[in-house]
Amino acid sequence: MLEAIYPGSFDPVTYGHLDIIDRALHLFDRLIVAVAERGPKESFFNVEERVAMLKEVLADRPKIVVSHFDGLLADYAIRERIRFVIRGLRAVSDFDFELQMALTNSKLAPGLDTVFLMTKETHLYLSSSTVKEIAKLGGDVSEFVPPLVGERLKEGFKKEI
Ligand code: COA
Repeated sequence: MLEAIYPGSFDPVTYGHLDIIDRALHLFDRLIVAVAERGPKESFFNVEERVAMLKEVLADRPKIVVSHFDGLLADYAIRERIRFVIRGLRAVSDFDFELQMALTNSKLAPGLDTVFLMTKETHLYLSSSTVKEIAKLGGDVSEFVPPLVGERLKEGFKKEI
């Protein structure tokens, strides 16, 4: 069985992530969508909230396991005995960071390969931060995130006020 990990902060999950997940499912028999407990930035939603949103949004897709990990992605992949990592590339600006991450991960976990999927052109400009900013300022995020995520963003920003 061919398996891969799709890691990320998913703070929150957007249609950009879902597009990568759906296309990765054409390549792999099983996909672990893994939420990094401590990502590169401070998160708005805690790890339980991010996992819960992913689980609800992905409930109708078989072949997917939603999980979370702390520490290094390479160690997580070794523990899970998985050889492939999925990452989406949006623009040239993503490339340097992604290349560095892919090379570092394969150094830390020899044999771990990263498979890159190009982001759909309609999601090129999309990012979780942009979505959070729009939601915070009362804008409509329905084009960017599933309805459930839009609701959680609304609730989250209400609490903040
Ligand atoms: N379409 C639109 N937007 C997308 C997208 C797509 N297909 N894929 C990602 N994005 C956006 C995200 O919304 C996010 O936006 P933001 O920066 O505004 O929050 C941004 O691109 C990056 O998101 P993501 O793909 O979730 O990656 P990340 O940089 O948040 O996560 C980890 C990186 C968590 C995978 C990485 O830091 C990691 O593995 N950490 C574990 C510790 C470790 O092993 N470190 C050493 C690594 S060498």
